Amino acid sequence: MEQIKRGVTIISSGSATSPQILDNHDLSKIVDTSDDWIKTRTGIQKRHICSSESLCDLAVKAGEKAILNAGLTSEDIDMIILATSTPDDLFGSASKVQGMLGAYRAVAFDLTAACSGFVFALNTASQFLRNGVYQNILVVGADCLSRWVDWRDRTTCVLFGDGAGAVVCQSSEEKDNLLGFEMCSNGTLNGCLNLAFTGETQKLGNNHQVTQGKYNPITMNGREVYRFAVNKVPEVIEKALYKADLTTEKIDWLILHQANQRILDAVAERLNIPKWKVISNLSEYGNTSAASIPIALDEAVSKGKIRTGDTIVTSGFGAGLTWGATVFRWGF
Ligand code: ACO
Repeated sequence: MEQIKRGVTIISSGSATSPQILDNHDLSKIVDTSDDWIKTRTGIQKRHICSSESLCDLAVKAGEKAILNAGLTSEDIDMIILATSTPDDLFGSASKVQGMLGAYRAVAFDLTAACSGFVFALNTASQFLRNGVYQNILVVGADCLSRWVDWRDRTTCVLFGDGAGAVVCQSSEEKDNLLGFEMCSNGTLNGCLNLAFTGETQKLGNNHQVTQGKYNPITMNGREVYRFAVNKVPEVIEKALYKADLTTEKIDWLILHQANQRILDAVAERLNIPKWKVISNLSEYGNTSAASIPIALDEAVSKGKIRTGDTIVTSGFGAGLTWGATVFRWGF
């Protein structure tokens, strides 16, 4: 196949959360915690959690808005990448999202990279756009971690919320607004953050055995993940900026995975990025995993904070462990 080098533009966004809100005071009636502890240690005040909505419901709502804001219809979409660690179906939920959206021309698949999922999906989408194979790709980050939190474990249940965010990316002959990226994994730290399968091995007939079981609630070594994020995120951002031939002074906005306000502050400080350039909405949503970056992006765009042509650096980090960064210019 002929390889054509095209540019990538990220032209629109959309997001969706459940109307059901769980605030810190509600949580303090469920586990031994307080509004003060959660606010001081994390910056989180509330989170939106699904009652009966499915992961696909949220992903479709976010996707519909992004497609509408792009001035396109579902049938213009060539590919859907759904970044999620909490699909409705372990075989994947992207195809169901494709069907619900009526995006019948699109090939759809899930991408699992926890809280780095959206950044990894964006960078994956850009390859198909750059080589000209596809014209319009819908990238969705969606997670329902409330399903997988141990609601008796105060060290994790206060952190997470549910949501979905989406962007439409386009292949362009005129512009290239995806300026640079970097992605990393370190499986030796895999045990720091897990939503793991455990099973029991049983005999199957006389000569075989199989293991069957279930997935267990989230476990996390919070201090280790915190240390990792504060060390590795500035580094990966520097690398992505280097590839984009930019320095931090040229950045209009920093959108980090919304895990903890203290992580956002520490990373910005290390990079010498002033606080007013740091997009933060975790007080409202908590950590929504793969959804946190596109929700924050969509909110900032809707409020008119982020404008066409602004230069944004975004970084996701989390289970795997995985981390990555992308530098892009907003809009067409
Ligand atoms: N309420 C009250 N006290 C609590 C709570 C709570 N909800 N949780 C923990 N504590 C207690 C602990 O038991 C401990 O008590 P002790 O000193 O008597 O032992 C004390 O508070 C301090 O606990 P630490 O774990 O040291 O608290 P820390 O300041 O490290 O904050 C936190 C914990 C918020 C989890 C932090 O470590 C963090 O944000 N880590 C990073 C998490 C992250 O970024 N994850 C991103 C990826 S998520 C993904 O990929 C799905």
